[in-house]
Amino acid sequence: MLAMLQFANRFSLPVITSAADSLIIPLHSILDRLDLSKLFPAEQPLEVELGCGDASFLVAYAGCHPRRNFIGVERLLGRLQKLDRKGRRVGLANTRGVRIESSYFLQYLLPPHSVTALHIYFPDPWPKLKHHRHRLINESFPSLARLALLPGGIVYLRTDDLDYFTQMNDAFSAAAFFERIETPARLAEISTDFERDFNSQGIPTLRAAYALID
Ligand SMILES: C[S@@+](CC[C@H](N)C(=O)[O-])C[C@H]1O[C@@H](n2cnc3c(N)ncnc32)[C@H](O)[C@@H]1O
Repeated sequence: MLAMLQFANRFSLPVITSAADSLIIPLHSILDRLDLSKLFPAEQPLEVELGCGDASFLVAYAGCHPRRNFIGVERLLGRLQKLDRKGRRVGLANTRGVRIESSYFLQYLLPPHSVTALHIYFPDPWPKLKHHRHRLINESFPSLARLALLPGGIVYLRTDDLDYFTQMNDAFSAAAFFERIETPARLAEISTDFERDFNSQGIPTLRAAYALID
C-alpha cells in the first residue's frame, strides 16, 4: 500500500482505496445518491446517526448490532477520522461515515425510504434566538425524516437543551405522520460523548422518539 501511495504521489495519480482501507465514504459526486448495495459487505437494515461527533455512540451501538448497517454523518473531518480509527480498531464491518451536512445528506444523497432509524443526539443547540434558524430539527425536519425512513421507521432524539427539546417536540407533534413512542431502555443506556460530559456535570438527558405511522 505504501509503495502504491508513493508511486501515485510521484506521478500525481489519483489513489483509489478500497472500502476496507477506510470506513469513510468517498463522495465522488454530491449529485448522485449513494449506492447502498456497494457500501457494506451485507445488505441489512440501515440506521443513520446525524452529527455523530467522535462516534463513541455509533461504534458501541454498531458493535451490539452486527446484523444492521450504520452510517454516521458528520461535517468535521477530524471527528469523522475518529469514527474511522475507532471503528477499524474494533473491526466494524457494518459501519461507514460520511463528511457532509446532515439535511443535504437526507435530501440528496440517501436513497429515499432506505433507513429504519435516524439517531440525532445533542445536535448543536444554537441558543441565541437569532441563530435558531440554524437548528437541524425545525418545522421542515419531520418531512425530511419521512423521506429517509422506511414505513414504521423511527427518529431518536436526545439533547441537554430544554428550549431545543421543546422545539423538537413541537415540530414532530405538528407532523401527523409521526407518533411519539418510548425510547427502548437498551438504546438509552448507550451514551454519547457529549451526553457523558453533560451528565457528569449534573445536566440530564432529554429524550424523545417518534415512529412513522404512514
Ligand atoms: C454537540 S456535537 C454532538 C456529537 C455527538 N452526537 C454526541 O452526542 O457526542 C454535534 C455534532 O454535530 C456536528 N454537526 C453539527 N451540525 C451538523 C450538520 N448540519 N451536519 C453534519 N454534522 C453537523 C458537529 O460537527 C458535531 O460534531
